[in-house]
Amino acid sequence: MPVAIITGASKGLGRALAEALAERGWELVLDARTAGVLHETAAALGKHGVRVEALPGDVTDAAHRTALVAAARRLGGLDLLVNNASALGAEPLVRLEGLALDGLRRALEVNVVAALGLIQEALPLLRDSAAGTVIDISSDAAAEAYETWGGYGASKAALDHVSAVLAEEEPGLRVWAVDPGDMNTDLYAAAVPDDEDPRSAPASVVPAFLRLLEERPASGRYAAPALLEVTR
Ligand SMILES: NC(=O)c1ccc[n+]([C@@H]2O[C@H](COP(=O)([O-])OP(=O)(O)OC[C@H]3O[C@@H](n4cnc5c(N)ncnc54)[C@H](OP(=O)(O)O)[C@@H]3O)[C@@H](O)[C@H]2O)c1
Repeated sequence: MPVAIITGASKGLGRALAEALAERGWELVLDARTAGVLHETAAALGKHGVRVEALPGDVTDAAHRTALVAAARRLGGLDLLVNNASALGAEPLVRLEGLALDGLRRALEVNVVAALGLIQEALPLLRDSAAGTVIDISSDAAAEAYETWGGYGASKAALDHVSAVLAEEEPGLRVWAVDPGDMNTDLYAAAVPDDEDPRSAPASVVPAFLRLLEERPASGRYAAPALLEVTR
């Protein structure tokens, strides 16, 4: 059975991806800070008959990251790490002139520092896998300049660069930075509470991730909407 760690998997994209992988026989290590919601998600995934380890915690906590990788080791190893948990830095988002620097530090700590910390912790197991893979969840805001998305976008751009350099340094792994596109989630609502445009359900972008896992293209940056276009 392949094993994945997915951070921020209690709801939104992380949960949708966990559901799809559990359906396909993956065993999972999941985290989120809110224990009740995480445990409800893990219980719902139990119907697929795979082992699911739900560890409440914050990805910025080094001991928690160690525990996530130890749980994967107990499941037999690690084939896929998904750095999905994320912080906006300000809720709602604000223009750079008013962005609290502590908010920017938090976005960098969660989106870049913790992601790299987990990668470092996971690398020995990922290198041992025949199909070791890292997916870092990026954003359109990493590549395009949108008013108010500067702090969060800067952190995702930094995560993209970490992903690109990791791919060079670890040619035996696949390292994909993936922009999932806009989705109707709590994170998006917190970012832009007044936005009433319809957004996709997180489950609708999961086929893009499954396509990456099935086809295993070269390491690089991918956008889910483009991957979904080709599959239609
Ligand atoms: N929604 C969009 O339109 C959109 C667009 C582009 C990219 N993205 C990216 O997609 C990914 C998933 O976001 P989403 O929209 O699905 O968000 P979401 O529905 O709000 O889910 C976020 C998940 O991360 C957990 N989390 C947040 N901070 C955490 C931390 N410090 N440690 C551990 N878990 C943490 C949350 O649970 P707790 O709060 O209980 O910890 C939750 O399980 C993120 O990387 C986001 O930047 C989203």
